[in-house]
Amino acid sequence: MKKPFVIAIDGPAASGKGSLAKKLAEYLNFDFLDTGALYRRVALYVLKQGIALDNTEKIIKAAQEFQKNLSEPYDDATLRRDNVGNAASHIAQIPEIRQILFDFQQNFAQNAKKGAVLDGRDIGTVICPDADLKLFITASTEKRAQRRHKELHSRGLDVKYEAVLAEMQERDNRDNVRLKDHMRPDIDNHLIDTSDMGPDEVFQKALDIYNSSSR
Ligand code: DC
Repeated sequence: MKKPFVIAIDGPAASGKGSLAKKLAEYLNFDFLDTGALYRRVALYVLKQGIALDNTEKIIKAAQEFQKNLSEPYDDATLRRDNVGNAASHIAQIPEIRQILFDFQQNFAQNAKKGAVLDGRDIGTVICPDADLKLFITASTEKRAQRRHKELHSRGLDVKYEAVLAEMQERDNRDNVRLKDHMRPDIDNHLIDTSDMGPDEVFQKALDIYNSSSR
């Protein structure tokens, strides 16, 4: 049986990697996995149980319990909330949590029918180091904060840009410290800086890279 074609898409928060991954998967008729949503779902479960974010032991136990639900459908809107994102960023620092989610992600990629697109932070380095195509999507912190600010406003949330920027910087620092060996825009990646690009342009660029590299 032919191995599925795996596309790994990594990059920082609000870089546009999620929308790109979804669009590419739809266009190519590949399976799609938002791996950040896995961390967010575990985080939401932890929050709902009232577990403190510094209680590593209880968080690991909760993740072990939650593991069996990973293939279930979920409500994306709830997961997008900032408190859930921040909790996800905290629990993602625990090596046992990353290990619990590792198998699910690898199996997803290996068992895809035609191909799989996975987006996250460590897909090209840890989850699918042998991916057929690796994209690293980035944008300046200010641009990413502007996008997040606009998105929050469109959802009726009156948050100041400065607050969004500060939170983005804090999240970047946490993610960068923890994932410094995993988030590697410098190795066997195609780097796309989306700071001055619209979503259609980013999609076209990624598709061109796919077409010139697909086997
Ligand atoms: O991409 P996102 O904002 O939905 O991710 C939420 C958090 O989960 C993010 O702060 C970092 C973490 N994460 C991770 O550590 N590894 C991944 N593959 C995906 C997300």
